[in-house]
Order: sequence, then structure tokens, then C-alpha cells
Amino acid sequence: MKVYPSYVYSHNQLAKRCSQPQFTSAKVAYLDTTEFLREDFDWMGFVNKINNIYKDEAKVNVVSYACSTGKETYSLALAFKTQMRENSNKLLPIIAKDIDSNCVLKAKRGRYKISNQEALRLDSLGGKNLYRYIDIVDDGLEKYAFVKDFLKRDINFSKADICQDIDTIPTKNTVLLCRNFWGYLSGQEQVMLADKLAKLLDKTCLLAIGSFDRACGMDRMLEERGFKLTDIPFLYRKLK
Ligand SMILES: C[S@@+](CC[C@H](N)C(=O)[O-])C[C@H]1O[C@@H](n2cnc3c(N)ncnc32)[C@H](O)[C@@H]1O
Repeated sequence: MKVYPSYVYSHNQLAKRCSQPQFTSAKVAYLDTTEFLREDFDWMGFVNKINNIYKDEAKVNVVSYACSTGKETYSLALAFKTQMRENSNKLLPIIAKDIDSNCVLKAKRGRYKISNQEALRLDSLGGKNLYRYIDIVDDGLEKYAFVKDFLKRDINFSKADICQDIDTIPTKNTVLLCRNFWGYLSGQEQVMLADKLAKLLDKTCLLAIGSFDRACGMDRMLEERGFKLTDIPFLYRKLK
């Protein structure tokens, strides 16, 4: 059985919620809470920064771990497509992985019930081009988002535990998202992963975490290992 570090629980209420797994008889069921364009991140600022930093590069690797059911990855692909147009090709396909095979299945399916807030955020990002990538359906009771194949083909979803898979990440020109999942790791795993990322990624790489991860103390752990916070909250760049 997986053991969770006590300090994660005591840090604050958000971290506590994020890091409490639900135990089933045989295995840990991970909490897969996610949203389209989750509000803890400046998605437009992120896309602008990527556009700026990698403007002279022919290829940029975008890798997303703990992608859950895929809403975050589709948000990113949508932001690339709508804000960068043909310039987005060098960022695609996005490689997206999660430890939970059910999440990966749901991600590949790309059919979701969504909140009013998610519908508004998608609409405000996609504008009149949203329908090209995602159908928003309102049956009068609920809203749904159905991702179109045109967007699905820009993402490769697969199952992986980041702790086992980390060495497959390209070390240069890589944009890595590992958001709102660090609280699931033991203290030892957090240190091991932060150490490996610091060693692996060079100054051409960006690393995005989430608000739950900061609540787990990951901001400090990354800064101690040579990552510097950019002007975008939760987005880090290696100093060398
Ligand atoms: C709270 S969700 C975060 C989803 C998304 N990144 C976001 O911020 O909206 C946490 C996800 O982390 C995944 N996860 C937990 N431990 C993992 C690991 N070691 N490797 C890959 N994914 C993991 C879980 O399966 C779950 O889908």
C-alpha cells in the first residue's frame, strides 16, 4: 500500500484534498479532478511565452504528465491552434500520459460533461473557431464538450508513471507540464523526481506545475534545484 507523507496532509486543506487517495481493495484509485482551462494557470500568457521563447526553433517538445482525463491537454492544444495557428505545428503532437489507464481511455474518447464556467472559458478562448475543434452541446439540463478528431490527432495519450518514465523526456526545447499531482507522490518520490528533472532539463526547457503542487511545497523544492519562477505563476525555467 502506498504511504503518503504526513506533511502533505498538514500543509493546507487543498493539498490535503489533492493528496488523499481513495483506497480500493487492491489498489490506489487516484483523484482525477481536472477542468478545461483550469483557472490556476495563465493559459494565454503561457502560449505567448512559448511563442516568444521558441520563435527561432523548428521543433518544440510538449509533454504533459498526470494529464488525467485529457481536459488539460485538449485545452493546451486548443490554445496552440487558436492563438498560434500554423506556427503551432512545431509544438504538436503533444505527448500526454497518466498513470491511470481509465483516465487515458477517457482522454482518448474526448467526450465530457462540462460546467458553465468551463463552457465560458472555452468560448472565450476559441471564439468563433471553437466549433472547428470542439462541439459544445447544451441539452437544456447539462452542457457537454465533444472533442473533434481534428484536435484529437494532435495528442498522443498513453499510460505511464512519471517516476518510471522520466528518462524518456527530451532534455532540450521541452515544455513539460506536471500539474496538480505532486501530492500523490511520497516525500521520497518528490525529491527523486525533482532531482531528476533538475538534472535532465536544461535552460531551454519550461516546467509548469499547479496550485495544489505549490500547496505541497513544490515551489520551494524546484527553486532549490535551479528552477526560477517566470513572470507567469506556476511556470518555471531552468537557470542553466
Ligand atoms: C488532480 S489530477 C490533475 C490533472 C491535471 N494535470 C490538472 O491539473 O487538471 C491528478 C492526476 O495525476 C495522476 N497521477 C498520479 N500519480 C501519477 C504518476 N506517478 N504518474 C503519472 N500520473 C500520475 C492521476 O492519475 C490523476 O489523473
